[in-house]
Amino acid sequence: MLLENKVVIVTGAASPRGIGKATAKALAAQGARIVILDLREEDAQRAAADLGDAHLGLACDVTDKDACVSAAKATLERYGRIDGLINNAGITQPARTLDITSENFNAIVDVNLRGTLYMSQAVLPAMKEQRSGSIVCMSSVSAQRGGGIFGGPHYSAAKAGVLGLSRAMAREFGGDSIRVNSITPGLIQTDITGDKLTTDMRADIIKGIPLGRLGDASDVANACLFLVSDLSTYLTGITLDVNGGMLIH
Ligand SMILES: NC(=O)c1ccc[n+]([C@@H]2O[C@H](COP(=O)([O-])OP(=O)(O)OC[C@H]3O[C@@H](n4cnc5c(N)ncnc54)[C@H](O)[C@@H]3O)[C@@H](O)[C@H]2O)c1
Repeated sequence: MLLENKVVIVTGAASPRGIGKATAKALAAQGARIVILDLREEDAQRAAADLGDAHLGLACDVTDKDACVSAAKATLERYGRIDGLINNAGITQPARTLDITSENFNAIVDVNLRGTLYMSQAVLPAMKEQRSGSIVCMSSVSAQRGGGIFGGPHYSAAKAGVLGLSRAMAREFGGDSIRVNSITPGLIQTDITGDKLTTDMRADIIKGIPLGRLGDASDVANACLFLVSDLSTYLTGITLDVNGGMLIH
């Protein structure tokens, strides 16, 4: 087992078809104890219970720094350590540049970027004390190609910010044996797109993907497993593309 006796927090992991839930499942299958954080306590608890008895589900809005600190504290009280953090919580909006309001901008930047900072700040003291830890930050192909399929320019900007933050943290905390890496998923079949993905759009998008299919949440989950585990001990500050070849650069 790759994650025996390891404790990993996954944010935004209650959505049943989401990347976070699939990641929690993949990590638990390798022996990790998982702490699922999401907006509603009952959803987080249900998702944790789906994984088995050893896991914890907590309400935590990652835009609220106190809530992030409390979630890290509750994790330490229950398990005594924090080995991994998957900064997965995110939201998107399909707005165009001239239509982005300050509310749109704040909502997108707050969850995707500020939340990544706050949750990382909450776990880093424990990881520094342990002198070990692995943080994985969920960016997007949208950050690299200037727009994904559904995310507006403010989403691209927030996800590009995640790449910069992740690399800077990798540099700052390498000396504490803490690794920080990012994943840039292409279009993954989850509920984040709502009902906006029509059959025609889907066929069109697939034409531009060398592997000839959209991604599954498990494709990203396995990349998270690689980055959070000791399979990747000499990797920090990297950006791992999980996009079926949608963007080859
Ligand atoms: N699905 C894709 O095609 C795709 C592509 C690139 C990147 N991503 C990124 O992957 C991550 C997961 O996306 P998904 O497709 O699984 O989405 P999803 O909508 O299925 O899941 C997102 C989860 O985040 C939670 N969440 C939202 N705001 C939160 C907050 N403030 N605090 C805590 N939790 C919050 C939601 O409740 C939900 O459970 C996101 O960061 C997203 O931007 C997704």
